[in-house]
Amino acid sequence: MLAVVNTPGSPAPVELREVPEPRLAPNEALVEVRAFSLNRGELRLFQTRPEGWRPGQDISGVVLQRAADSSGPEAGARIVALTDNAGWAARAAVPSHRMAVLPDNVRFEEAAALPVAGLTALRTLRHGAPLLGKRVLITGAAGGVGHMAVQIASRSGASVTAIVGGPERGRHLRGAAAIVHGVDLVEGRFALILESAGGSSLAAAMARIEAKGTIVIFGNSSGEPASINFRDFAERPNARIQSFSYFTSEAEERFAPDLALLAALVGDGSLKPVLAEHPWRDIARVGPELRDRRIAGKAVFRVDQA
Ligand SMILES: NC(=O)c1ccc[n+]([C@@H]2O[C@H](COP(=O)([O-])OP(=O)(O)OC[C@H]3O[C@@H](n4cnc5c(N)ncnc54)[C@H](OP(=O)(O)O)[C@@H]3O)[C@@H](O)[C@H]2O)c1
Repeated sequence: MLAVVNTPGSPAPVELREVPEPRLAPNEALVEVRAFSLNRGELRLFQTRPEGWRPGQDISGVVLQRAADSSGPEAGARIVALTDNAGWAARAAVPSHRMAVLPDNVRFEEAAALPVAGLTALRTLRHGAPLLGKRVLITGAAGGVGHMAVQIASRSGASVTAIVGGPERGRHLRGAAAIVHGVDLVEGRFALILESAGGSSLAAAMARIEAKGTIVIFGNSSGEPASINFRDFAERPNARIQSFSYFTSEAEERFAPDLALLAALVGDGSLKPVLAEHPWRDIARVGPELRDRRIAGKAVFRVDQA
């Protein structure tokens, strides 16, 4: 079967190659992959993982063969799933507790946007729950995580201020009470701040947290460090800085229910992932567009099964 394979040092960082069919553990289903999405963090993995490594975490598709231990969805189910790697292929092995059945009206392309970015949006926001009536600040709001976090926070009753790089970057955002072109320009204090740019953005965010508020730091897209001093919090006592990893933030058995929740939100129209859709053969070309902040929302790839 065809799969995306890592090719560091070559002109293209990844390429499509023939690979063996997946070998299934007893708790794994065989899934025919219809779409997948690319995350900023995976661009780094292309450089650090060896030749021949198989990337791919966010996938959607159809169960061809149910897990041998009879756990998880049956053959024929349309699903969204989070794999550790090797998901960007014609077929993938998926642990049954890492997948959820899709509502009929959710497209494979929409579903593929959900696992890493949607789980990160959902789970970072839980650090501020309940959100009803709270002010929430989200940096990197034009990106994969950010645009979904804006929508989920707004649906949960928060007043959301979204930070984007410029007017063009904010065009596709839904649900923000305010869209601001730089965290330095934001006024007032926030109960919850989701921060993923790092460096000067994190420093500016720390100055805008409320007393007892929470700053969730979950990325460092800028690559810049930030300095921190106890005295920075003199006017916002007992504010908290919370680091976050989507993979370990909650128990393994929470993946399926959270994926099902995200799929249901898409199904009922309250979450609309913004997609840049491409055939999977274009992945090496689209990677630099994501790196250079030219993708609105999520880069999603359709897998042709021919
Ligand atoms: N900890 C976790 O579990 C976890 C999970 C998922 C993602 N992440 C991290 O969270 C961040 C966001 O992920 P994502 O998938 O939403 O990425 P993305 O789609 O590339 O979005 C990142 C956004 O950050 C903004 N940004 C601001 N300063 C930037 C800079 N110096 N370089 C690049 N982008 C900058 C960009 O918007 P503008 O151009 O409008 O400023 C961009 O839209 C990434 O750093 C990613 O590695 C962490």
